[in-house]
Amino acid sequence: MAEEAILGYLQNNEEIKDSGEFAAERNIDHNEIVNVIKSLHGFRYVDAEDIKRETWVLTEEGKTYTATGSPEFQLFNAIPPEGIPKDELQKKLDPSVFKIGCAQAAKNKWVEMGKQLVTRKVQNVEDKVKGLLLQIQQGQGIGSDDIKALKARKLIVPQTWKGYSVRKGPNYAPKRKQVVTDLTRENFQSGEWKELEFKEYNYSAKGAPLEGGHLHPLLKVRAQLKQIFLCMGFEEMPTNNFVESSFWNFDALFQPQQHPARDSHDTFFLDAPSTTKRLPEDYVERVKQIHETGGYESRGYAYDWKREEANKNLLRTHTTAVSSRMLYQLAQKPFAPKKYFSIDRVFRNEAVDRTHLAEFHQIEGLVCDRGLTLCDLIGVLHDFFSHLGMTKLKFKPAYNPYTEPSMEIFSYHEGFKKWVEVGNSGMFRPEMLRPMGLPDDVQVIAWGLSLERPTMILYGIDNIRDLFGPKVDLGLIKKNPICRLGIN
Ligand code: PHE
Repeated sequence: MAEEAILGYLQNNEEIKDSGEFAAERNIDHNEIVNVIKSLHGFRYVDAEDIKRETWVLTEEGKTYTATGSPEFQLFNAIPPEGIPKDELQKKLDPSVFKIGCAQAAKNKWVEMGKQLVTRKVQNVEDKVKGLLLQIQQGQGIGSDDIKALKARKLIVPQTWKGYSVRKGPNYAPKRKQVVTDLTRENFQSGEWKELEFKEYNYSAKGAPLEGGHLHPLLKVRAQLKQIFLCMGFEEMPTNNFVESSFWNFDALFQPQQHPARDSHDTFFLDAPSTTKRLPEDYVERVKQIHETGGYESRGYAYDWKREEANKNLLRTHTTAVSSRMLYQLAQKPFAPKKYFSIDRVFRNEAVDRTHLAEFHQIEGLVCDRGLTLCDLIGVLHDFFSHLGMTKLKFKPAYNPYTEPSMEIFSYHEGFKKWVEVGNSGMFRPEMLRPMGLPDDVQVIAWGLSLERPTMILYGIDNIRDLFGPKVDLGLIKKNPICRLGIN
């Protein structure tokens, strides 16, 4: 109806001067008129120009008085011709009506506030305030002094009224043409297609979001790291066993059985199956010996090594458990140098906070060859980290039960403008390698780092729980960009 009214009117008239008046004259809701104008304007049937007007609307209080009459009027009517004691008058009226009424009626000289009695000063009064409020409600203008007075009494407040003036637009037609979006079989059969007008393509419309699998950022970073290791000639170690025996996770790595890391506070032990079935017995014997009495120029730890402790199953606490298995296997064949890497999950019984989870991923690399030195380790680390875009490295002496010397690796972060720890490294101890049976001149250099840390830095995530676990926002997984290490 609103659309017909507008297009119809413009057929014979130049302009709709004011959409507000236009709506009022036709008894159409102005909001409806505005919506139609916007739509017609969008298809350029009409040109529209904004009109703004300051108008006044009634406050809640103002609205009440249009029904009840103003407080002064109510007060006046409550006074009988012979007058009334003030406290009795007060009882007859609402407290706020009484209070405002007294003040306004006295100001209007309608009443006499005597000591004993409140009396009328005039016989009849007219409720001018109610009249003015009604006029405003009906959209009629009133004088500026009256406006001021009503505004001071907080019975009206200003409001900006928005409307349009409207003229014919470039696509004007007395009736809107139905534009169609699809050409159907029926259109062809009826011959209707000749007259049809089609909706234009919207080339800037967004496509429907594609549903499908998405790679988690950790997987993207892992894929890149794997590529780096492969380019450097490393082979991937099989890491498909989350459950490991204490033997491979700790004992083979010359980690004493009383070591605090072997406590259930730090390690998840398994209830079932609680122990491992098989270990290479002759090697176990050599490991026992190195712990208890030493050998190969080592004094050992001088304690009673217990097989039951080594048998205990656990969730591996580091991927170095896999490295120890692989090096042992390597030692069972005629020696050949190897470069190994792994990237997989490890578990630690830790309090969860914004940087720690009870499960995370480790990246580990090792080189096993004759005559390797600390310089080889430093060189390999420079090479490896330069592929990640980290060229400034510093090393700090550290301690691991299974490496000597050991070094923490720091990299200068250009964004943070400081040195950040990026990994741990070292040369595996003879106490670890010799019992395995690796030749005396064979050394192993190795390093490890977490996958989460670089991923969080790359993807700007500062709480690890936003990256991994039940609180992860799936939207983030869908939208995060591809990973290109070393390119900033
Ligand atoms: N296993 C060590 C860790 O869990 C990392 C590491 C690997 C250190 C290899 C030295 C050599 O932090």
